[in-house]
Amino acid sequence: MIPGIRGTRDILPAEVGRWRRVEGVARDLCARYGYAELRTPVIEREELFAKGTGESTDIVQKEMYAFTDKGGDRITLRPEATPSMVRSFVEHALEQELPCAKLYSLGPMFRYERPQKGRYRQFHQLDVEVFGITDPAVDAEVIEMASALVAELGIETAELVINSVGCDACRPRFSQALIDALGERVAELCGDCQRRSVTNPLRIFDCKVPADQPIIDQLPQSEDFLCDACRDHFAEVRRQLDAYGLSYRVSHRLVRGLDYYTRTTFEMLGTNLGAQNALLGGGRYDHLVKQLGGPDRPGIGFAAGLERLVLALPEGAGEIDVADAFVVALGDPSWSAARILARDLRRAGLTTLIDYEGRSSKSQMKRANRSRARHMLILGEDELASNQVTVKTMETGEQQTVTRADLVAHLRAVGTD
Ligand code: HAM
Repeated sequence: MIPGIRGTRDILPAEVGRWRRVEGVARDLCARYGYAELRTPVIEREELFAKGTGESTDIVQKEMYAFTDKGGDRITLRPEATPSMVRSFVEHALEQELPCAKLYSLGPMFRYERPQKGRYRQFHQLDVEVFGITDPAVDAEVIEMASALVAELGIETAELVINSVGCDACRPRFSQALIDALGERVAELCGDCQRRSVTNPLRIFDCKVPADQPIIDQLPQSEDFLCDACRDHFAEVRRQLDAYGLSYRVSHRLVRGLDYYTRTTFEMLGTNLGAQNALLGGGRYDHLVKQLGGPDRPGIGFAAGLERLVLALPEGAGEIDVADAFVVALGDPSWSAARILARDLRRAGLTTLIDYEGRSSKSQMKRANRSRARHMLILGEDELASNQVTVKTMETGEQQTVTRADLVAHLRAVGTD
């Protein structure tokens, strides 16, 4: 046996119902909020993420599945969707086509991380992006939609956390204040934080190393360094979240692990997921589109981890599909008629199962039981002669004879789905 790759998972038939539930709610919600679907390739140029996600991020430094292809180009499996969405928006000048540039995508992402519960090397995201709007109303609407996603999935134990990381005008002052406040103590921090203090001091707030926390807790807070425009923007976002009746916590430590964010950042945390508890995360990125060669357009969005939503889904959500009928042939002469019956039912829209290999009626009935189909349809010599079918409703054990002509209507009337 050749096993699957560490950090990847097969989504087995028994789990697929829960996945379809999550994907169905996600697609439906996006449509209701006016998002158009965009599907981009899984492979992109490595430089798209080096420039987009950012050279100083863990994703680019340590986690990309990058390689040189046979033509000599540097390629990577995408670690996130945002730079791809921006690339496509720019490359196809989508803003000319779409009434409002709201786009979503669903698909696999790849990061070479240490696998654990809720963290995989191939995982899936719902990614949502809005281009071209600076109004804080869109920040609030995107956050409201993120919380609607979680609520509509029936996930009750989630916490919304928000922050503002400022802009190019005020962030440098804050970064400098962090470096000043750290002073000599930077040498006491972990290796990653020492590196961060040079490349991107804000990222120090991402640190999870317990020994670093007392020092980090003493650091200045972003809110005290926001410029007037960023302060007003953040206040308006909060006012609108209040108007929507959403509860949230402001955390100055929510800096996010990607380089492109400006102003609003947010996450929703599942409260019973363990260490990997972020159900979704996102924020505003006002310079990424321009940085990737496009027009000067702001952007905002989020991505939700589908594995984590599936994990957080309540018990019993997304049951697996159950067949409407299982056709049983009693004796050899009935097989051909049984197959034609199965074909006709399938064409009429009913999910129908049938056995193979000419097995005995007893063994077919066993399989019908195991399949959990709603009805067993028995076709023997008597039924063939009278153009009828014996219908056994599995839940009640009730049995009755129905003519072929009435069968579809009968099955529908007694309930299929
Ligand atoms: P992110 O925070 O890196 O943001 O990822 C978003 C979500 O993807 C996380 O909250 C988590 O649910 C899920 N996720 C991330 N890594 C893994 C993993 N290794 N295994 C399982 N799930 C994972 C972004 O990707 C940004 N592109 C979000 C965004 C969109 N910002 C603006 N627009």
